[in-house]
Amino acid sequence: MDSQNLVIKAYRKYAENYDLAVKFYRLLGLQIGKYRKRTIDLLELSKGDTVVELGCGTGLNFSLVLDKIGTQGRIIGVDITDKMLDQAQNRIKENGWENVELVQRDIAEYDFPDNVDGIFSTGAIQYCVEYDKVIKGGHDALKKGKNFVIMDFKMSQGPARIFTPLLLYFTSPFGADIEYIKCSAWKSIEKHFEKNSYQEGWGGFLYISVGKKS
Ligand SMILES: C[S@@+](CC[C@H](N)C(=O)[O-])C[C@H]1O[C@@H](n2cnc3c(N)ncnc32)[C@H](O)[C@@H]1O
Repeated sequence: MDSQNLVIKAYRKYAENYDLAVKFYRLLGLQIGKYRKRTIDLLELSKGDTVVELGCGTGLNFSLVLDKIGTQGRIIGVDITDKMLDQAQNRIKENGWENVELVQRDIAEYDFPDNVDGIFSTGAIQYCVEYDKVIKGGHDALKKGKNFVIMDFKMSQGPARIFTPLLLYFTSPFGADIEYIKCSAWKSIEKHFEKNSYQEGWGGFLYISVGKKS
């Protein structure tokens, strides 16, 4: 089975318990809610905006985005795993959201709509070996002055790096191995976006990268 099918298999298995499992990472000192909020703030959204989330999973970011874009705005959540999207669909139904649509697709194969106001991904884009192509496609689809934001995991270069084996132990059920955290998608943001910024958190194991289209 290739690595992509392993990832889909893992997320199919854990989809129903994903929201709960994410809470468990708090025990490892990861305040993921804080970084989700920062990621969405960095999109600099306005009411009525159209936003694409790459690897949206169960839709844990949707309410944060909807707070910014209102009922006039639109979210397009793209994910490859059917069972994760089933959970996202349940969330949409339970909340009565009418402006969130889901697309089951490998993000490497996704055609962005034109004139998007924001694109983001939290803990997902590095699963895609073709992330550079995805980021270039996102850049081209964004309106001028709009942002592409990635929040993802990386190798820590600081003292916390001694915890790397622990991190790998807890992320391995989700198919996120050493290659995942060695991946540096922020470099593609820096390559395709003249204006960009980078920050780290969680002892250097997490980064948020922002590209603003000129
Ligand atoms: C760790 S979850 C993150 C979900 C959500 N963004 C969050 O922050 O809770 C990773 C998601 O990426 C999706 N994914 C992995 N590879 C993908 C690909 N090539 N195309 C689309 N989705 C992908 C998985 O199905 C999974 O739902």
